[in-house]
Amino acid sequence: MSKVIVFDHPLIKHKLTFIRDKNTGSKEFRELVTEVSTLMGYEVTRDLALEEVEIETPVCKTKSYVIAGKKVGLVPILRAGLGMVDGMLSVIPAARVGHIGLYRDPETFLPVEYFCKLPQDIGERELIVLDPMLATGGSAVAAIQFLKDRGAKNIKLVNLIAAPEGIKAVQDAHPDVDIYVAAIDEKLNDHKYIVPGLGDAGDRLFGTK
Ligand code: PRP
Ligand code: URA
Repeated sequence: MSKVIVFDHPLIKHKLTFIRDKNTGSKEFRELVTEVSTLMGYEVTRDLALEEVEIETPVCKTKSYVIAGKKVGLVPILRAGLGMVDGMLSVIPAARVGHIGLYRDPETFLPVEYFCKLPQDIGERELIVLDPMLATGGSAVAAIQFLKDRGAKNIKLVNLIAAPEGIKAVQDAHPDVDIYVAAIDEKLNDHKYIVPGLGDAGDRLFGTK
């Protein structure tokens, strides 16, 4: 069974309050999502392997560390996942970015794929799937399956807000994928929106309705 890591940090909780607030406009919403993603990126990369290298400072030779082994790939689920890319890239600037386009059918609530463009070597990368919302889990389960079908072996999922239903769906379908979230909310409503949630993440990021 995969782990669920909930970020219990005052800065993240504070920023999430304003992200949730319906009076927060798109500009500030985007900035806050970027800031929270940066903070989450710091923790999500905590277990990256290091290797020792020898360098020379202006004072002497010394041993120090660089990131070793697998390289990172970020995979935002379009559209709303795009809001998390810049924050993550600010801590992992060398990451490649792949895109999976999915929208949730408003009648069936099932994910529909419309775009997929990934780095060629995803099998050798640590992939971090990004989406602010994990509601039913249908989109995340499908996106992770696309990645596995194309050779991905090492995947983490990062969401701002998750519903218990979505966490269970991902854990059932992909028990090897750890889930990092800023908050776990109460439930889904009849429209499968997260309660209390933040509304429609894509619309709030991009000012659409
Ligand atoms: C939202 C969100 C997730 C999905 C979550 O995307 O960004 O991708 O819904 O719901 P689920 O867990 O029930 O699948 P949406 O389909 O609204 O598309 P958008 O990002 O283009 O707005
Ligand atoms: N997608 C969103 O953007 N918000 C939700 O609450 C559920 C799905």
